Amino acid sequence: MDNHIRVEPVSPVIGAEVSGVALSQPLAPDAVAAIRAALMTHLVLFFRDQDLTWLQHKAFGRRFGDLHVHPAAPKDAEHPEILVVHADGNSKFVSGELWHSDVSCDVEPPLGSILRVEQVPSSGGDTLFASMYAAWEALSDRMQRLLGELTAVHEGRQYYIGRYGGENLRDGTYPLAEHPAVRTHPETGRSALYVNEGFTTGFKELKRAESDALLAFLVRHCASPEFQCRFRWRANSVAFWDNRCTQHHAVWDYFPEIRHGYRVTIQGDPPFYAPAARADRASAP
Ligand code: SIN
Repeated sequence: MDNHIRVEPVSPVIGAEVSGVALSQPLAPDAVAAIRAALMTHLVLFFRDQDLTWLQHKAFGRRFGDLHVHPAAPKDAEHPEILVVHADGNSKFVSGELWHSDVSCDVEPPLGSILRVEQVPSSGGDTLFASMYAAWEALSDRMQRLLGELTAVHEGRQYYIGRYGGENLRDGTYPLAEHPAVRTHPETGRSALYVNEGFTTGFKELKRAESDALLAFLVRHCASPEFQCRFRWRANSVAFWDNRCTQHHAVWDYFPEIRHGYRVTIQGDPPFYAPAARADRASAP
């Protein structure tokens, strides 16, 4: 393993600060392995003082998989994999101000996202992250059993239409997907709740009123402070999160100040649930 990389947890449940690595440089395989291992353990990693060009940002992302193109946001012609995250005094919305897992409405939702914030407000603009392993593990066996049999519908339209309009649709239409309500993480084998406020609109197997009530409960449950950490950005901070087992919420408390950054998103696989792979209560954190 790389001897220079240091990983300091920010909470026992989720999040770690990583130092001793310059993401702008080509990384040796042991450094990539150390970062991947830290991501599997801590679910979201925070790096400080990372001055990256778009090419360097994309090159870092590619060490973890193919890059994902956003289904609805405007795109740079040369760098369609870069998502601009921007808010100022004219903004009507900011990216991610609802609890969500990125683009869970895609049939193959992103594995992870790497956000670099270049300009920060004088205070505020933090991002909250929550562990969906912890959210799952806090549920009763009965509730886990019910959720293990449910299919959640995730709709891009409800989240994106008011934010981006329909002018930049990647596939000519808003994405729509059905995923298990709990998913098995393909690398750790752990179970993670996979239902979120931003994209999930209901459960296929339930009646409307049942589905609405269960979804409202789960959205509240996922936002429990015990499952969370909170990241305070500085200029050139980077956060790298695993979308398969986390949700995040960008706090817009700094209007009309400016917050500006860029996100590179890593392509994932179709979610699946394999209860036999469960190692929930044995793994840490
Ligand atoms: C996002 O959802 O990717 C935006 C998160 C943030 O701006 O902190």
